[in-house]
Amino acid sequence: MIEIKELYKSFDTAGTTVHAVENVSLDIEAGDVYGIVGYSGAGKSTLVRCINLLERPDSGSIRVEGFGTIRCARGSAFCTPEGGAEQPLSEKQLKTLRRDMGMIFQHFNLLDRSTVFDNIAYPLKHSGRSRAEIKARVLELLDLVELRDKINAYPSQLSGGQKQRVAIARALANNPRILLSDEATSALDPDATESILRLLQDLNRKLNLTIVLITHEMAVVKAICGKVAVMENGRVVEQGNVYDVFSEPQANITRKFVDSSSGLGRINKLIDQHANVLSGGGTLIRLTYNKDCVGESLISEVSRRFGVNMNILLGSLELLQGSPLGGLIVLVEGSMDARREAIAFLCEHNVIVEVIEHG
Ligand SMILES: Nc1ncnc2c1ncn2[C@@H]1O[C@H](COP(=O)(O)OP(=O)(O)O)[C@@H](O)[C@H]1O
Ligand SMILES: [Mg+2]
Repeated sequence: MIEIKELYKSFDTAGTTVHAVENVSLDIEAGDVYGIVGYSGAGKSTLVRCINLLERPDSGSIRVEGFGTIRCARGSAFCTPEGGAEQPLSEKQLKTLRRDMGMIFQHFNLLDRSTVFDNIAYPLKHSGRSRAEIKARVLELLDLVELRDKINAYPSQLSGGQKQRVAIARALANNPRILLSDEATSALDPDATESILRLLQDLNRKLNLTIVLITHEMAVVKAICGKVAVMENGRVVEQGNVYDVFSEPQANITRKFVDSSSGLGRINKLIDQHANVLSGGGTLIRLTYNKDCVGESLISEVSRRFGVNMNILLGSLELLQGSPLGGLIVLVEGSMDARREAIAFLCEHNVIVEVIEHG
């Protein structure tokens, strides 16, 4: 649906250059809910703004299925329509591209002096539709986001979640195939977040809407994304299926994100607070569960077989896409040889074992 290749975007401010997006390549398939996660400043917003050319990439290309390929080089943009020849990108093509991509934001960006009806009708102006057609479309959209009773309300009379529903309806007014969501739930309380995520998931299924979802919150990715890219310093450091990325994170930053949302993030604090957990000569290990193995059942077997104590200090387990995800932090006590054998045994049984510290 969207194929991004070797995209670069930098900003020059006050004599310094910020490389906001550096060599990003992504492949987003039709119908995906594709998460892009990273801390503040990672380049997520710049990347998504490059996708609909609100920001002009310095270089790289973006292919959008059914539209064509946009190639940027040295500040200029060119378009190769599907089956056509490359030419400078025209205003008309840019409009067509943007029509196909709705966008929602953290702060909703509604027109405060306009009613819900007028906010949603706004993008339908100049679309060649009659007033009656516009009204029918707005009502249809209000039903879609379950907000018909607020048709005459002003944004100030709505809750955050309701405002985002209006913004979603407005973004979908022209039947885009793609929805770009930039931190759409970041200003919402947990209940509203949950209901907006459910709505996005419904829209994805009902309309086969492809969603690119930017967030700094892991929980959001876990809730509705099928694929994820992790960004740091303008680069995509890891990408793939959500379960694969979160069950075996490769990059440090991904591990940090995973830990922050799983409870195992407390391990560092635990080690600091209990420097003495190791004073008795134990080995602190982390066992990671994956699809094929839940480590817990092996714990008692290992302790019997090798005569070691396996003290579970922290545990976390959740289901992600129907498979177990999580792990245990275990203090292994016993002779050095027994500890080594125990760890080797766990490794042989498909548990990912990581030695955190030897006492
Ligand atoms: N218009 C701009 N001018 C200058 N610097 C910018 C601009 N937009 C973004 N940046 C810089 O680019 C980097 C990435 O920003 P952004 O894409 O907003 O990150 P994120 O959305 O992940 O928080 C930051 O260092 C930010 O300060
Ligand atoms: Mg941002």
